[in-house]
Amino acid sequence: MADGTMMHLAADLSFAHANGSWRGKGSWTGYPYYGRAEMYEDIARIVERGCFDMVFFGDAAETPHDSDGDFSEAVRYGVNWPKLDMMPTVVAMSRVTRHLGFGITMSTTYHHPFHVARLFASLDHITEGRIAWNAVTSAYRNEARCWGHDDIMAHEARYARAHEHIRATKALWDSVDPDAVVMDPRTGVFADPTKVRHVDFSGEHFRIQGPLPVLPGPQHSPPIIQAGQSPAGLALGAEFADYQFAANGTLATMREHRAAMDEALVAAGRKDRDVGMLWSIRVEVLDSPDDLARRDREYLDMQPPGAPIKNMSALFGVDLSRYPPDTLLGEIVEDVRSAHTHWGYLADAVRSAGADTPLLEYAEQRLLRGAAEAVGTPEQIADRMEELHEATGRNGGFILSRLTQVPGTLRRFVDEVVPVLQRRGLLRTEYSGATLRDHLLT
Ligand SMILES: Cc1cc2nc3c(=O)[nH]c(=O)nc-3n(C[C@H](O)[C@H](O)[C@H](O)COP(=O)(O)O)c2cc1C
Repeated sequence: MADGTMMHLAADLSFAHANGSWRGKGSWTGYPYYGRAEMYEDIARIVERGCFDMVFFGDAAETPHDSDGDFSEAVRYGVNWPKLDMMPTVVAMSRVTRHLGFGITMSTTYHHPFHVARLFASLDHITEGRIAWNAVTSAYRNEARCWGHDDIMAHEARYARAHEHIRATKALWDSVDPDAVVMDPRTGVFADPTKVRHVDFSGEHFRIQGPLPVLPGPQHSPPIIQAGQSPAGLALGAEFADYQFAANGTLATMREHRAAMDEALVAAGRKDRDVGMLWSIRVEVLDSPDDLARRDREYLDMQPPGAPIKNMSALFGVDLSRYPPDTLLGEIVEDVRSAHTHWGYLADAVRSAGADTPLLEYAEQRLLRGAAEAVGTPEQIADRMEELHEATGRNGGFILSRLTQVPGTLRRFVDEVVPVLQRRGLLRTEYSGATLRDHLLT
């Protein structure tokens, strides 16, 4: 629970190098090849200076294909591609910071709980208690094929497996007591075997004897973050999450989502407000009022031909370029629902933008502002963030969305907006706890 007046902040670095951002003003241009650590280390230093809770890396381990099975456009223009495994980068970032946390993604659909439990317990040690797991069920069709499946697993089946996965992972984290280590040089005893147990987990998807061959790290169970818009997604978060990410386009749908989460929490036997929300938000410090339109145009111009529709097609696993140009959102609902992908996003879009919104108009807007928005002077940005924070019950904070060109826009946010938030008592001025869990929950 993040129940307080303070705002929590994360920075979404999932696509820092992709989708045209690599050539945008203030982007990673000028740093060595993106697979190296220098830029990410600088970002870590910048956001720690801004007292952020964490940086975040989403993941879908795939090369986007179009409906004919061709990936050349995605590769040519760097559309959601390339995608490194960011675990090693997180370790590098943790070595140049002391307090900043790291949210990193592993799929409950494609990875085994034993692997996830062992990796996150190990990361908890090496980052000194600053790792969180973004537990996702993965809704990209080609990702399924990369992990050896013919097609994407149905939405409900993915979520059923996720429940079992997280239960098994948590059981593994609990299979070794924190005080198991003895390390007595006199007797030669390293650890007390009575403090280590089998888990003997037996479910529909996983059978695991255990125990985990890793001692608990400083957080014991790394915080679990999750994003789910659908009833099944909300139910998973209500059962296991410490925090949720949510990308809602309007204050009305943000409030609806908060209320739905609270209802799901009570249904799961927890207290309402028990899960803090990090709302995805696009933040832009503008030099003049007409700067936003210019930046929108610049960003759209950086995109490959047809990018808005392609991006949406990839998100929904439906080839939307085959629809006539004047198609309305309401007309794609059934096809998207039956594709078992990110149905929750479309449901939110239909509620916030309306079923009669033209598809292309929505696709462009989604690329630019798939989430909430705070733009203008630093004071105006702080006003909007404060308003949204207040109106959604001051329970969590924001994740600066992936449109953020880094490190440029992050540096501006930290230098110009953070001091305003701090002056208003909305953001910590220094870190107080020892671990990411401490920071997220206070
Ligand atoms: C900030 C944010 C980050 C996300 N990161 C990932 C990710 O890394 N990988 C992924 O497959 N899905 C990711 N998602 C999608 C969610 O896991 C989820 O599928 C989506 O919110 C739709 O909800 P539903 O699955 O309940 O339909 C993310 C969503 C948000 C809002």
